[in-house]
Amino acid sequence: MSYLKIVGKRPLAGEITVQGSKNAALPILAACLIGEGPCVIDNCPRIRDVEDTLFILNRLGVGTKRSKAAVSVDASELRNVSVCGLQAERIRSSVLFSGALLGRMGEAVFPLPGGCAIGSRPIDLHLEVMRALGAHISIEEGIIHANAKTLRGCRIRLRALSVGATENGILAAVCADGETVIENAAREPEVEELCRFLVLRGAKIFRSPDGALHIEGKQPLSPVRFSLQPDRIVAGTYLCAVACCGGRIRICNLPFQEMETPIGILRKMGMDVDQDGSVRAELPLKGIAHLATAPYPGFPTDLQPPLMAALCTADGQSRICETVFDNRLTIARQLRKMGAHIEIRENCAAIDGTACLHGGTVSAPDLRGGAALVCAALGAKGETVLGGYEYIARGYENICRDLKKLGADIHLTEGITDL
Ligand code: EPZ
Repeated sequence: MSYLKIVGKRPLAGEITVQGSKNAALPILAACLIGEGPCVIDNCPRIRDVEDTLFILNRLGVGTKRSKAAVSVDASELRNVSVCGLQAERIRSSVLFSGALLGRMGEAVFPLPGGCAIGSRPIDLHLEVMRALGAHISIEEGIIHANAKTLRGCRIRLRALSVGATENGILAAVCADGETVIENAAREPEVEELCRFLVLRGAKIFRSPDGALHIEGKQPLSPVRFSLQPDRIVAGTYLCAVACCGGRIRICNLPFQEMETPIGILRKMGMDVDQDGSVRAELPLKGIAHLATAPYPGFPTDLQPPLMAALCTADGQSRICETVFDNRLTIARQLRKMGAHIEIRENCAAIDGTACLHGGTVSAPDLRGGAALVCAALGAKGETVLGGYEYIARGYENICRDLKKLGADIHLTEGITDL
């Protein structure tokens, strides 16, 4: 069990470069199952979810090789269609293999996926997409069997916005006969990046003005070398860290365009964030009377926990409502242990910014909740011991290295502590 020790109240200063995007890497690695290989994915983050994904690919008979930040994937020897096993059950993105396997092999066997405990997280939309394309789906004891002699393109309207279901639909549709139109398709930058990767390989995909994705199936896909965009959620986490403890930093590869909404909120709180990645925050910042998370281009749900940490010591009363997941405010309990004044009412958190956060012993409940506690600890008086580092490592390549570069007093400790 590894845990972080953080001594707070030190303004950050310095320059960092953020890792490649976790939520683009995962669907793109699944997309390497389709067509000719090997594909090389540059700027691929060394995080646990990627390592688990590479393990799953190897179990499918796919060759993978990592050299520094590049990962090469060669699916020419793909022979297995079952994604079951510990790794598949602990990451949400394992469900993304189903669309690609169904398309390439006509069959996919996969578990109800894992991932962060931030709500019920069903996969009914994924299954609806596969059925619409002609797959037969059966579920036995939590294992899903999908079969389809051939997938036939069709017009699908997603009942609700879903990043994963959109990505799964794209991966299956590129292997289907004829055209598929996905209406009410998610617009997250990671979905766009998956489409760019596939189009670079020869797929025919475009988004019409109404937002629908049009995919012409069965195009030959060639091997490519593709470099991932910087991770907008990791960048946003570090912006929230500065909002918690103040300072002047520069994020050299800040994906500014994809972060308009969160950057707008941090500017409203009184931070300066420039296009070149220069960031300045003089405490105290101002609170936000009301903010609701929303699908892109709205405020990203993945930055809600780190922003909640920043609002704990921002002047005035703030309110943040979570509309994407049905149980993603649990981090409030851990923040209260550090002195935060947070009331949860239904899907909203009312935050009184007069609190002075103090260090304590806390535990990460999930990936972004863990990141939020790191931010809070940077703004807290004294030392914080933060357990559950393994959650943070799922999405942050090396949060210690990055924050140490910015002058934070943060250390990773192995071993047992009475958390
Ligand atoms: C992706 O998860 C991201 N994960 C999440 O990031 C992110 O929070 C989420 O999109 C929203 O942006 C990856 O890309 C690996 P959804 P996903 O399908 O695809 C409901 C992180 O911290 N839903 O857009 O699972 C679902 O319960 C992670 O990096 C159904 O009801 O999210 C949720 O309430 C956390 N049925 C809403 O839709 C379905 O079949 C949005 O989920 C699928 C989803």
